[in-house]
This record gives sequence, structure tokens and C-alpha cells, in this order.
Amino acid sequence: MSLVDDEIIGDIRRLLDRPVVFVGMMGAGKTRTGRQVAKTLGLPFTDSDDEIEEAAGMGVAEIFDRFGESYFRDGERRVINRLLERGACVVATGGGAVMTPETAEAIWSQTLSIWVRAEMDVMVERTGRRDDRPLLQNGDPEKILGELVQERYPVYEKADIVIDSHNGPAEAILNQLLEKMHKFLCNGQRKTG
Ligand code: S3P
Repeated sequence: MSLVDDEIIGDIRRLLDRPVVFVGMMGAGKTRTGRQVAKTLGLPFTDSDDEIEEAAGMGVAEIFDRFGESYFRDGERRVINRLLERGACVVATGGGAVMTPETAEAIWSQTLSIWVRAEMDVMVERTGRRDDRPLLQNGDPEKILGELVQERYPVYEKADIVIDSHNGPAEAILNQLLEKMHKFLCNGQRKTG
């Protein structure tokens, strides 16, 4: 049973006039949380990596391998810009998307942005379940993730809302996030911490 009442969900739907975009590190839980928010609010969900793969006709790892990271980032920028034209919807981005300044600018200015943050052990465990993330393939994943955290957290901090994702019940995280979204939208879209 959901702890978030229909009134909160109804308010969010009424006040939301822009895409909800999830940012954050690999393995933090952007896609999982994004899907749940989309389902709860009755909005379409898209993962930008899936769109890039579909447009390119190959997987992210193969794009990195054959064409390099900057080619991928350019495709990512175009795909995300296109997704942001859809009005109220939910988009999960790849962990490095906001490190491209134009992509970041579009997300910060046109969307309700949510940073999904997780502890290092959670990210290590979750990213270890798949081996298709090119940035983690050459070296110790924990060390690489640690370096990316240093570089990226100051950028992720610009998101409108931050939500901590852990291995506890998904429902509790979802409810906490919906409450934060409600507060943000009812507060005239000002960050409240
Ligand atoms: C990347 C994260 C990946 C994917 C690509 C690069 C990154 O997405 O876009 O492998 O730079 O952090 P997820 O964050 O969904 O794993």
C-alpha cells in the first residue's frame, strides 16, 4: 500500500509542466526510481541510453568502442534535447550526461531535475551486476567510481532535488521522493534542501 496519498499525486500531476529528469552516478538507481515515479504519476518513461542505442543500432559499449566517448556524448546531447520537448514525462539519463555543458544547461533550465545519490558500496554492488558499462571496464570499478564522484558530485548538486537511494524498500524511497517533488512544486519551484 502506498503511503503517499492521492492528493499529493494529483497535485504533482497538476503542477508539473515539464519533464522530470533523473541524473546521478551509474548504479545509483536512476532508471529504477524513474520508472516507479513515471508509473505512479501515469507518465511515459524513457531511459536516454536506450534511445541512443536504438538510434545507433548498437549498444553503448559498442558505440564507445567503435566511435569513442565524444561521439557518444554528442548523440546523448541530441537524444536528451529531443526527449525534453515532450512536456511532462520522465527521463533517466546516463551518469555522464550532465558533464556535457550543453546537456546540463538544457536539463537545469527546462526540467524538474532529480539527483539520485547512493553510497559507494551500493554503486559498486549494483554496477557489478552488469559488465556493459565502458567506463568501468578498464581498472578497479570502485577506484573509477570514486574518481567520477569527485568530478561529478559538484555538478549533480545543481539538480532541483536530491534523493538518497539505498537497498531498503523501494516504496519508502519513492514516497520520500514524491513528497520532495510535491514540496518543490508547491514552493514555487525553489530548492528547500
Ligand atoms: C555513463 C553511464 C551509463 C552510460 C555510459 C556512460 C557514465 O549510464 O550512459 O556507460 O559516464 O557515467 P548509467 O548511468 O545508466 O549506467
